Amino acid sequence: MSSKYHEVYGAWQKDPEGFWAEAAADISWYKLWDKVIDPYTGQYGRWFAGAECNTAYNCLDRHVEAGRGDQAALIYDSPVTDTVRTYSYSELTDEVATLAAVLVDLGVKTGDRVIVYMPMIPEAVMAMMACARIGAIHSVVFGGFAANELATRIDDAKPVAILSASCGIEGSRVIEYKPLLDKAIELSQNKPTSCLVLQRPQAPASLISGRDYDWAEAVAHNKGKDRKAGPVAVKATDPLYILYTSGTTGQPKGVVRDNGGHMVALKWTMTNLYGIKPGEVFWAASDVGWVVGHSYICYAPLLHGATTLVYEGKPVGTPDPGAFWRVISQHKVAALFTAPTAFRAIKKEDPEGSFIGKYDMSSLRTLFLAGERADPDTIQWAEAKLKVPVIDHWWQTETGWAIAGNPVGLGMLPVKYGSPTVAMPGYDLHILDEAGKPVGPGESGTIAVKLPLPPGCLPTLWGNDARFRDSYLAHFSGYYSTSDAGFIDEDGYVYVMARTDDVINVAGHRLSTGQMEEVVATHPDVAECAVIGVADQLKGQVPAGFLVLNAGVTKDAKEIEAEVVKLVRAEIGPVAAFKNVMVVNRLPKTRSGKILRGTMRKIADGESWTTPATIDDPAILEEIKDVLSGRGMTS
Ligand code: COA
Ligand code: AMP
Repeated sequence: MSSKYHEVYGAWQKDPEGFWAEAAADISWYKLWDKVIDPYTGQYGRWFAGAECNTAYNCLDRHVEAGRGDQAALIYDSPVTDTVRTYSYSELTDEVATLAAVLVDLGVKTGDRVIVYMPMIPEAVMAMMACARIGAIHSVVFGGFAANELATRIDDAKPVAILSASCGIEGSRVIEYKPLLDKAIELSQNKPTSCLVLQRPQAPASLISGRDYDWAEAVAHNKGKDRKAGPVAVKATDPLYILYTSGTTGQPKGVVRDNGGHMVALKWTMTNLYGIKPGEVFWAASDVGWVVGHSYICYAPLLHGATTLVYEGKPVGTPDPGAFWRVISQHKVAALFTAPTAFRAIKKEDPEGSFIGKYDMSSLRTLFLAGERADPDTIQWAEAKLKVPVIDHWWQTETGWAIAGNPVGLGMLPVKYGSPTVAMPGYDLHILDEAGKPVGPGESGTIAVKLPLPPGCLPTLWGNDARFRDSYLAHFSGYYSTSDAGFIDEDGYVYVMARTDDVINVAGHRLSTGQMEEVVATHPDVAECAVIGVADQLKGQVPAGFLVLNAGVTKDAKEIEAEVVKLVRAEIGPVAAFKNVMVVNRLPKTRSGKILRGTMRKIADGESWTTPATIDDPAILEEIKDVLSGRGMTS
């Protein structure tokens, strides 16, 4: 099939408002918009201004009304608890409406914030949907973050309530969430009035009287009375959720998502980018704590009337590297979406792909990869073993959906390894040099999106328009800066090569080395430090920390290194995967005192490097190289 991509992208270029108005016809609105985009409101304009809608209604009730009530909406597959449970659209709608009434009982009103701190269980999706149903703004916090990170988010979002579970299960380990939740609330200034806690049998938690409520009891109580809430009409421009993501400082950025534009964009992608039909099973093997989980576990498949899969397991070890293939065959998954790191983990344990042959994989049509650069080796291995197209696509928490991809629904374009293919409609991509001047095909620079951003992208940062402008709009007038560097070739294929800031990507998880430095620097024996991301065969990148100790410290360096590892784990969380730390005598710096992190990374990654002309003392780079090779850390 020849691709309709160029025709569709051209139609968007010719009439962007007409394009998105047509896409918006796939959504059910209580009130239509006054303007498709109002260029005079918000930071760069607002989509579907004046319209009213409800996201949960579009994800649930609408399909029940259209006759999909008995179809599976959500399949929960949990190898770690040996559970498979399916919710039909009718059942999920009832569960969500009942939980929404519990939120109302807890005093949650439209516009209030609710933090969701939960593992990969169906109740996490129900929690998000219940908030959407009553117009409350959810903020999901990933389970791998430590109490301090949760506290930071509590203080920024100021939630009325927190929804949580007593524990998560990571492979064979039970991680108690409740002590982390209690600690976070203790640390925070803006304490929520209530917590709803789902008790899991693996580690029931003790509840604090007057603040904590038992989830199952509250839901059962409302079910007994047939008490339900919502859906309420909210403005298309009202926030649906806040999702915190790493920025360049310890203070995470609260990415805001609206209701209307988000629905329009996500619904469009299900058909045109992912090539999925309503009724098919779409599996995003991510976590609801990340943007992929928000968009493609929770919202998009349900907006589309497809079946979503909530998987509480890992690609390997639950129980073996055939875990993904078992799920695909058991639930007839049509498309899998995950991060390349998951495939590297599988390939490491089963290089021949011998587990694939044990399962009937005939339902799988496409594999989608995102979250980090997809290395050609991983793509080619997956293509050869799965015998389906493997699509790399590029996006960010900020955009909520793909900036560039290969549109399977419109007909695939030829794959060029190393490129996530072409700009999606809505994104007018330009490569800019440092002065903000567009460069030619094949030339590298910062990848920027000409404003306005398309529907679904962040309108601002929570409570901080100024930080939004500073972080994204101030670099290049009239553009959103992605902070990703790369180039576009003669055929319009985009290549995303590296971040231009200190954000690193560890196993598909976005982390800030600047934030890690802030934590490391609090150790009493550390005079100064640098944290860089170094290449890792499994996780893509892992952090490496370099410490210079205060004069006169007599404690053993190994002991301090171990303390620093513990400190980052305690302050940021295990997800930081901060395990490589080394004490050095000095850090390489320019004469003006700037630490040469880029050169340190090149040394660690075994790339060619030159001594910067502005270096203070060239000998320090050799010292760093020696320390790294002493740890077996130079590639
Ligand atoms: N709750 C609590 N702890 C968590 C957690 C959660 N939800 N998720 C991860 N952690 C912990 C892990 O147990 C691990 O702890 P450890 O240092 O004590 O072993 C640590 O955080 C690092 O986790 P991770 O980076 O995921 O490493 P891993 O070795 O456990 O697994 C992979 C590696 C590749 C198997 C795993 O990262 C994976 O499946 N990735 C899939 C891609 C993905 O989900 N990407 C998200 C964006 S699409
Ligand atoms: P996150 O906000 O966690 O989704 O991370 C976004 C960042 O991950 C981007 O800015 C990129 O640096 C990187 N990224 C995501 N997907 C890709 C991809 N397909 N190719 C290259 N980099 C990617």
